[in-house]
Amino acid sequence: MARKKLAVLISGRGSNLQSLIDACADPDFPAEIALVLSNVPGVQGLERAEKAGIPVTVVNHKNFPDRETFEDAVHEAIAAVEPDFVCLAGFMRILTDKFVSRWLNRLINIHPSLLPAFRGLHTHERVLEAGVRFAGCTIHFVRPAMDDGPIIVQAAVPVLPDDDPDTLAARVLEQEHRIYPLAVRLIAEGRARVSGEKVLIDGAELPDHALMNPAGP
Ligand code: GRF
Repeated sequence: MARKKLAVLISGRGSNLQSLIDACADPDFPAEIALVLSNVPGVQGLERAEKAGIPVTVVNHKNFPDRETFEDAVHEAIAAVEPDFVCLAGFMRILTDKFVSRWLNRLINIHPSLLPAFRGLHTHERVLEAGVRFAGCTIHFVRPAMDDGPIIVQAAVPVLPDDDPDTLAARVLEQEHRIYPLAVRLIAEGRARVSGEKVLIDGAELPDHALMNPAGP
């Protein structure tokens, strides 16, 4: 079966992009990256893509008078490569309903919390303030509300007594790098589908607990 095409949208470091680049390097992985788009010029994620020989483009939001014209330019750049899925990987712009509905159920995001808890920014600080015992990360289909939408994969990690936001972020990030490729595999193989605003996963070889267990595959 032909590999599904991905467009990956970034704004910075691109370590999640790197996890997708590394996954796609395996010829058996069911997807490939056709384009990396950043709204910020000169970021590390663009270097990572270039090093991997992936086409890159910058659509700088500062060059547009409003969100809608910026998004139209992003949409046009992405649509030109005809991707099957669009992956947000540390893309730090809020997207309008119009953009989200154009890519409905083909647009996925990573968020460093166990959604629906701790939507938005400064997640790890707020997790520590709340005193919860577990943190984690979520890959979900995007809906118009921020960090909202049907959940594809999550991973949980413990919050340890001496954690600070950086140590917690590092523990969560390790799991982000594990579950983003897993979620992309599931959607690219057509094994994750939205039903009633929940995601159903097919495939007996994927035990339920593997989706949550940090020691899993
Ligand atoms: C990640 O923690 C991701 O969950 C969040 O922003 C961060 C991006 O990191 N949305 P990177 O650019 O992928 O390294």
